[in-house]
Amino acid sequence: MLSKKDNEILCRVGPGTPMGALMRQYWLPAFISSELEVDGWPRRIRLLGEDLIAYRDTEGRVGVVDENCPHRGSSMIFARNEEGGLRCAYHGWKFNGTGACVDMPSEGEQSSFKDKVKIKAYKTQERNGIVWLYMGARKSPPPLPDIDDRLAPPDTRIEVLDGKKIVTMPALRPHATKHSQIDRVAGAHVADGYEVAVDMLTRTSKTSDFAPDVSVFPSAPDPKSKGRQLEELAFEVASEQALSVPTNKARKLVARGVRRVFCVLLKKGRLLEWSRDVDGWATVPAASSIEDRCFVRPLPVAALLDAARADVEVAEALLVKQPPPIRRALSEREEKGLVKGRLEGKTEAVLAVLEARGIKVTSAVRRRILGATNAAEVDQWLRRAAVVQKAKELFGETA
Ligand code: FES
Repeated sequence: MLSKKDNEILCRVGPGTPMGALMRQYWLPAFISSELEVDGWPRRIRLLGEDLIAYRDTEGRVGVVDENCPHRGSSMIFARNEEGGLRCAYHGWKFNGTGACVDMPSEGEQSSFKDKVKIKAYKTQERNGIVWLYMGARKSPPPLPDIDDRLAPPDTRIEVLDGKKIVTMPALRPHATKHSQIDRVAGAHVADGYEVAVDMLTRTSKTSDFAPDVSVFPSAPDPKSKGRQLEELAFEVASEQALSVPTNKARKLVARGVRRVFCVLLKKGRLLEWSRDVDGWATVPAASSIEDRCFVRPLPVAALLDAARADVEVAEALLVKQPPPIRRALSEREEKGLVKGRLEGKTEAVLAVLEARGIKVTSAVRRRILGATNAAEVDQWLRRAAVVQKAKELFGETA
């Protein structure tokens, strides 16, 4: 049984306790992201024995500060969440997410007193719909994995671009059908060890979290984060929207580390690829192919632009990959070819034996022998060919 002293050591997690110091080494899940609205009401949290106030500022950043104002100890739960900070309801001191006092209405404009005042504030990060808090003393907290993290709430139609939420409505034809075509063609061409995804959210920067139309990414998990790896290829379809939208996205994807980014221009029937050299798009010739380690064979550009070519190229790719049904069909065809070849060889042997023995073969008999389809029957003919006196006796006929 634990002694009272050991129990105290293990259970107390407030500031200055050994377990508290240990737990403050790590990012801690504090609350659900959706509980805070931009410029909305602050909320109270209690973590590791500390009473804190959380809020989401005008820029969408989450701030977490001490519950008590450093001035007269008023509760910051009554503070006004305004223009990038919390303003204490008592005397109006305003603090930002780093804890700095940014406004002190009671002091004159020349006063620098506010620069000497801070409220306790903790670093926050949002991952997968959860606000994480770092309450330790390190200047640079340990990193959180950042591929599978989300600014956009999962399972919704929301994306985040440059910090702004975008509601992505379901696509209309022909955008939607092109989207599906690229997915089908890329899926047929994808090599072992890679997967193709449609509308998969990717965190590209601190302020952007959006889904390329089609992504090709390694199947293996990231060795460090254990989450998914970043996509190597990304495809966008541009139909009604201005080219500046996919351009902005491509620039972010490339900066994040996506190896190649393509854009299908629906109206012009062209494929573009992002060029790092010129920081812009380059046209991919329609008669060329995309050669890449993610694909089992060069993917013809025409298969992305022309629906009719898509089926052909999907079939060609499947012939290269040979999934079980295709392998089975090919081997059955090969087997049939072998059986047919063996039968033909035997019918010719029957004729050769008769000829060698000087037995006359009419054209009707020759046709019947060469047209045989029953292997057992041909075997019997072959045995009889060595002894018959007339060709018809092969078939059991004597007259
Ligand atoms: S108690 Fe907060 S500003 Fe005075």
